[in-house]
Amino acid sequence: MEISNERRLEVLAQEAMGCQRCELAATRSQVVFSSGGPNSSLVVVGEAPGASEDKDGVPFIGRSGQLLTRLISEEIGLDRTRYYITNVVKCRPPENRRPSAGEISACSYLLAGQLEVVDKKVVLAVGEVAARSLTGLKSSVGSMRGQIHTVDEAKIVVTYHPAYALRGGSRVTEAMRSDLMIVGGLLDGK
Ligand code: URA
Repeated sequence: MEISNERRLEVLAQEAMGCQRCELAATRSQVVFSSGGPNSSLVVVGEAPGASEDKDGVPFIGRSGQLLTRLISEEIGLDRTRYYITNVVKCRPPENRRPSAGEISACSYLLAGQLEVVDKKVVLAVGEVAARSLTGLKSSVGSMRGQIHTVDEAKIVVTYHPAYALRGGSRVTEAMRSDLMIVGGLLDGK
């Protein structure tokens, strides 16, 4: 019997819930695996859960997540039920520090599994950690954004992290809007 993609994601999520592959297992409240289903043409990948996400178990629901959700809705016309959301690292780093290279590598089996199962057209990499992990480049977001990267046949669009937009004001927000328009065009097949 063929295993459904829903089931494959459930199995991966269960594996994640018990994961002890790095030291973040000791400080997390819970693993933040994803939101959305396997039939999502858009996958959004952030850095790691923050305090709100660690508390509620859902990615991108705090202040920066709310900004990202609103921008995706305004520029692409999709609400959160219509795309898949996850992070490079599934457990909150203490004090919201950047995840270490070791933590990113320990967690990479989960993102790889998710990207294999979700039937996507486009991956939106949000912020430098996601952009570097997904493209394999060591560049800044500023130099990776505004173009389409193709990695293993997946189309990847890079944008700033909304936490940076909250600090950086309208210039960053406008740049994010133009990146999201690239995503919208790809989803529409243009
Ligand atoms: N920042 C991220 O990168 N991901 C989240 O889920 C929340 C904040």
